[in-house]
Amino acid sequence: MKTQITELFGIRHPIIQGGMHYVGFAELAAAVSNAGGLGIITGLTQRTPQDLANEIRRCRDMTDKPFGVNLTFLPALKEPDYPGYIQAIIDGGVKAVETAGNNPQKYLPALQAAGVKVIHKCTSVRHALKAQTIGCDALSIDGFECGGHPGEDDIPNFILLPRAADELKIPFVASGGMADGRSLVAALALGAQGMNMGTRFIATVEAPVHEKVKQAILAATELDTRLVMRPLRNTERVLRNPAVDRLLEKERALGSSIKFEDIMDEVAGVYPRVMVDGDMDSGAWSCGMVAGLIHDIPTVQALIDRIMAEAEGIIRQRLGGMLNA
Ligand SMILES: Cc1cc2nc3c(=O)[nH]c(=O)nc-3n(C[C@H](O)[C@H](O)[C@H](O)COP(=O)(O)O)c2cc1C
Repeated sequence: MKTQITELFGIRHPIIQGGMHYVGFAELAAAVSNAGGLGIITGLTQRTPQDLANEIRRCRDMTDKPFGVNLTFLPALKEPDYPGYIQAIIDGGVKAVETAGNNPQKYLPALQAAGVKVIHKCTSVRHALKAQTIGCDALSIDGFECGGHPGEDDIPNFILLPRAADELKIPFVASGGMADGRSLVAALALGAQGMNMGTRFIATVEAPVHEKVKQAILAATELDTRLVMRPLRNTERVLRNPAVDRLLEKERALGSSIKFEDIMDEVAGVYPRVMVDGDMDSGAWSCGMVAGLIHDIPTVQALIDRIMAEAEGIIRQRLGGMLNA
């Protein structure tokens, strides 16, 4: 399948694996890229720019296909060394960066001068237009369904994607709620040039996370996520567990006077405990509603092959058949 996204990133299939904290290590990124998609290493999971440089090297040892790095600009107690991470990306010869969170304008000149294509992930048409104006190469439009940070507008993809298609000139992929060939064909029909998946890629053989995380996603339905940190305007969609219930109770009790410090126990330092140690109830961790569509743990290659075969079947037989009827 050839789309503007496969052409832009030099990949075989229009499928991207979004950056995921403590999930997007070289093993997963390389597996996605080897299967014909665009794998993404999560930059900030690497504690220093030097660690990211090593992770890029490890990924390159595992694949000769293009892969990318995610750089997330979110509120942090201590600002990460973004210039250092960007230098590691450029020096490592990486040609794709997924930015997310705040406006990446400051860093675009250095990245693009080094031939890096920037795909900015955002959750509203207004932010997408801004990213287009500042010169991003592509966008990843994250609907309200998504795991992670869906923003504050709560617009699901059935509205958000065609709205984006009506307004944007640069290509975009659909993100949030994507799981299979049906998702891909729907994304294309709504105006996207491909799709980005997060949660679906965690439940794969190669995702380097604790087995309990994969089993939790399999056990979850579309009813099992919750939105936390809304009062702080830093909304995150997470899998419900006792820590999340505790957090939501604090949000209810403290109302608009809540501060980040009040919920530190439930949100700070959670990812290594969940993803590495399998301590599933130790805090809030991102998960999409799409968990309700995930019922197995295939290899990344099997997953991507299945998605592409299913998409082709839908386009050629199901949809084509309807036209010929
Ligand atoms: C466990 C987890 C961690 C994530 N961490 C990040 C992150 O660090 N940076 C980022 O830009 N997006 C992050 N995301 C969002 C994903 O890249 C992607 O946009 C989202 O998962 C898409 O929605 P889906 O889960 O429905 O596929 C994370 C998602 C999950 C599930």
